[in-house]
Amino acid sequence: MQGTQHRPEQISQQQEEEEDDSELGFHKVNKLQGNGITPGDIKKLIEAGFATVESIAFAAKKNLITVRGISETKADRLLADAQKVVPIGFTTAKEFHKRRSDIITITTGSKELDKLLGGGFETGAITELFGEFRTGKSQICHALAVTCQLPIEMGGAEGKAMYIDTEGTFRPERLLDCAARYKLEGGDVLDNVAYARAYNTDHQMQLAIQAAVMMSESRYALLIVDSATALYRTDYSGRGELAARQMHMAKFLRLLQRLADEFGIAVVITNQVVASVDGGAGMFCADPKKPIGGNIIAHASTTRLYLRKGRGDSRICKIYDSPCLPESEATFAITAEGIEDTKEND
Ligand SMILES: Nc1ncnc2c1ncn2[C@@H]1O[C@H](COP(=O)(O)OP(=O)(O)OP(=O)(O)O)[C@@H](O)[C@H]1O
Ligand SMILES: [Mg+2]
Repeated sequence: MQGTQHRPEQISQQQEEEEDDSELGFHKVNKLQGNGITPGDIKKLIEAGFATVESIAFAAKKNLITVRGISETKADRLLADAQKVVPIGFTTAKEFHKRRSDIITITTGSKELDKLLGGGFETGAITELFGEFRTGKSQICHALAVTCQLPIEMGGAEGKAMYIDTEGTFRPERLLDCAARYKLEGGDVLDNVAYARAYNTDHQMQLAIQAAVMMSESRYALLIVDSATALYRTDYSGRGELAARQMHMAKFLRLLQRLADEFGIAVVITNQVVASVDGGAGMFCADPKKPIGGNIIAHASTTRLYLRKGRGDSRICKIYDSPCLPESEATFAITAEGIEDTKEND
């Protein structure tokens, strides 16, 4: 009796999982079980943030063998099997072009800003927002955490958001204000945002690893790290720690890039620029006008957006560095309901 009841259930559960997989656009790492890879290995891999076949296919062997229980032989086997599922070789530019035209962008709520960005914040990439305090970095993050949940036709990406907050400035009330504008049910919107406060750079890294696991379990469209650099300033303060800090930051950003590639999510990071006349930004940026993190952040972000204040509640966003957008600007407003176009009244 029990056996007969149990089996169909197991099969249907398995089928369901497989359907899930294809819809999510990635494959769960459990697929690699067998061929010498034990359920225990799978568990250890997931704990280390390798929750998908994609994460294995993109991994360097030396990183895989840092996972407990994964020997060199097992790493070779995992890589070979993963690369059978995930193609990682050459493709044609035509195919690549087609894939790029399928890229979903997430609306900011301001038509002008969206236009500047070629539709909105790109999924599958890292976008950095940098600027002085109160220029709207966190406000844009809040708006995106709501709009990413919208249907694709409305400028959303039909996925959940994850918010890593390092400065304690996350305000769910702002999400509710923004949700009302799109006539979304507030409770649902909040349910779809996973929030964590990070207290130090190791913790920030740990949360991103946890994010990888959560993303393999349900559909996320956005990961925010606000701010990505603040904790580095406090955790590494001496000149002697500069190399260690850059190394840690590079590792963190590589992990974010992996999440963007693996899950096709938009990654948005913020970075405060400390303008100081006396050059007090010190070792963190030789030129005080430049964002913290130097080359490391510059190279890790696909698109860098520089925000500055305009008149009143208006803000100006300038494309600072993008592989395919010109260096132009757009003006937007921070309003009660999030990010909007400025009202032309002059
Ligand atoms: N409910 C609201 N209605 C209108 N404007 C708001 C509202 N809440 C915040 N703002 C505006 O947003 C601005 C702050 O923006 P934000 O918090 O995004 O800055 P930031 O760039 O993240 O700064 P920091 O570097 O300090 O984190 C303030 O000028 C504030 O007036
Ligand atoms: Mg902020």
